[in-house]
Amino acid sequence: MRLILIPKFLFFIVLVATTPCIAQKQTKAQFIGSLMAKMTLQEKLGQLNLIIPGDASVTGTVVSTDVEGKIKRGLVGGMFGIAGLEKIKKVQELAVRESRLRIPMLFGSDIIHGYKTAFPIPLALSASWDLAMIEKSAQMAALEATADGLNWTFSPMVDIARDPRWGRVAEGAGEDPFLGSAIAKAMVVGYQGGAGNANLSTGKSLLSCVKHFALYGAPEGGRDYNTVDMSRHKMYNDYFPPYKAAVDAGAGSVMTSFNDVDGVPASGNKWLLTSVLRNQWGFKGFVVSDYTSVTEMINHGIGDTAAVSALSLNAGLDMDMVSEGFLNTLQKSLQSGKVSMAAIDAACKRILEAKYDLGLFEDPFKYLKQERSSEVLSADKRAFAKEAAMRSFVLLKNDNQVLPLKQGQKIALIGPLANDRSNMPGTWSINADAKQAVAVLEGFHNRPGIGSKVMYAKGANLSDDPVFAAKINVFGEKISIDTRTPQALLAEALAVAAASDVIVAVVGEASEMSGEAASRSSLDIPESQQKLIEALSKTGKPLVLVLMNGRPLTIAKELNAATAVLDVWHAGTEAGNAVASVLYGDYNPAGKLTMSFPRNVGQIPIYYSVRNTGRPNGGDVFGKYKSNYLDVENSPLLPFGYGLSYTSFSYTKPVLSANSLTANASLTASITLTNTGNYDGEEVVQLYIKDDVASITRPLKELKGFQKVFLKKGESKTVIFTIDEKLLRFYNADLKHTSEKGSFQVYIGTNALVENSVSFQLK
Ligand code: NOJ
Repeated sequence: MRLILIPKFLFFIVLVATTPCIAQKQTKAQFIGSLMAKMTLQEKLGQLNLIIPGDASVTGTVVSTDVEGKIKRGLVGGMFGIAGLEKIKKVQELAVRESRLRIPMLFGSDIIHGYKTAFPIPLALSASWDLAMIEKSAQMAALEATADGLNWTFSPMVDIARDPRWGRVAEGAGEDPFLGSAIAKAMVVGYQGGAGNANLSTGKSLLSCVKHFALYGAPEGGRDYNTVDMSRHKMYNDYFPPYKAAVDAGAGSVMTSFNDVDGVPASGNKWLLTSVLRNQWGFKGFVVSDYTSVTEMINHGIGDTAAVSALSLNAGLDMDMVSEGFLNTLQKSLQSGKVSMAAIDAACKRILEAKYDLGLFEDPFKYLKQERSSEVLSADKRAFAKEAAMRSFVLLKNDNQVLPLKQGQKIALIGPLANDRSNMPGTWSINADAKQAVAVLEGFHNRPGIGSKVMYAKGANLSDDPVFAAKINVFGEKISIDTRTPQALLAEALAVAAASDVIVAVVGEASEMSGEAASRSSLDIPESQQKLIEALSKTGKPLVLVLMNGRPLTIAKELNAATAVLDVWHAGTEAGNAVASVLYGDYNPAGKLTMSFPRNVGQIPIYYSVRNTGRPNGGDVFGKYKSNYLDVENSPLLPFGYGLSYTSFSYTKPVLSANSLTANASLTASITLTNTGNYDGEEVVQLYIKDDVASITRPLKELKGFQKVFLKKGESKTVIFTIDEKLLRFYNADLKHTSEKGSFQVYIGTNALVENSVSFQLK
């Protein structure tokens, strides 16, 4: 690649001469219209082409070739998998100085949970139930990534997921459409600098990309990329709402999913991309495929490259990620009448509009400012990473108030994840440098007066199985199998434990055990670690498990064996500092689960908002000819919304302001929350509603509101929710969004198992 050096004083002149100029008073439509009038068919198809250079970290088997030549010929609309200011600048220079029409390129990346500073994985962020913090995480990521040359993020992933065997549950916000929608909106607003596209051109915002449209979170058997088959009624009521919320918030782009929907792969599904997304929801941005998902339709048995490319364009797909099916076949398909010029123009226009909104025609180097490089991995990002991590932790058990740890206690810090940096950033953090991450042991040492109290032993390998480890270590070592025998590791750990007052064991999944192409058929903690936990528990010392995981795990045995369990997920760059701070009580954990934890994998799919059957089993009591299992209860091990605190809270029964509601009115439901324990703390107060009688079967409970409330110890507060008719709407059998008159139950409580309800009538 050739670098052209331009003296600074000539820079402005060169820019003016190289980039299509926006004439004064020219509207966006006029500018794009006049630019498109100059474009050849090939140049238009070039805008629809998103490529990845050969040296990038890829999520498929194909990469693009002749990258430089294609850019010069105007055959590339955007690139991803390229990092760093210098590299991106060189490529942008190629586009705006050496291609005929000098159209700037989009530079995308998977900025999923932070950028170089990794924040907790998205499932963890969702467990904070803190929308302002989640919005800020997207805003901070945008600041850092735009300071490093990028202008487009392939985030948020808003796929509802109720099957924890699917590894990508780590990248989403869990099982619930109401919470998922609120988080989808917060992320889009955070990335784009506000709702809509008004602040996209500041140079500090990222174009967001909502993915994976649609239903990617429901593959059969939890196996990634697998078939999805779902009723329309379930799509509209449960799986579509977060995508729609992101679109309503003004997301600039949407990515299709790998799976089929009603038998047609999403990238070629006209009903999905045109009828639903554009016609029903009014989406105005552009749609990009997932990685080679256009030509993967050949494997789906839909046709050859030309056929699937034409199908995709006609369905409403605008940009082809990596396949180059659009670039290589659409000209011929146009000649043979399989696609129209109008369809190509529409797609090209949408991509140029996004570039315009990002301010790239005004200044193609807007995101390439050397003077912003200090914003990368800056102190404020790291401070935020720590705060976000602490706010995402979920306390699953705390017997005898063993937590917080006391200052003088001797601590045995044990476990394969206790002195590990490489797994801290979590899955899909390609831009993060794991060497910058803080291990838990370091976090303990960073606390004044604690270092001398901590003794460390690895205790066990993450897994003893080299074949399994090799699958996890594809992009770098996450599971390192010790040269010492498992027996030697355990003996060392037991000796350390014997000399301690409290054992803290850091265990769970390596980061790449969840994420893309990381489905599991067992959700147990690997056997090597189970043995360690069992042996530590037998010592009789207080045992605190710090659990690292990218998904719900089946931890019944471990929950029983431990005195306390703190779920810290994969917590990002500041993991170690955050874990130590929470264990010592600087911050009182307040996270709540956003996915149910099953008792065993046989219960999956598992989620709280189930519909009643004709033969409900009445709690967890077995009944013959009832809907239950012979060998396990129906209820989860840990329900949606569950999470403890170092303090305790009491709720009064909900009180309604009225016992009936009409279409244009509202009523309130309130409770008094009291902090009854010994620490200040926060509680996520949850509102659930049940529609008692309707024309279709309705969930036993649906989340319809939540508030995170801070109370000093001993303090009380009245928490008030407003309920109106709109909140009670659902998609009926005709897919009409409507409410139906009748009685409703209102529950307000600490998790989805809340029992006491009050009722009102919708009249
Ligand atoms: C494939 C993944 O499914 C998607 O989420 C990601 O954005 C692309 N690869 C690009 O890396």
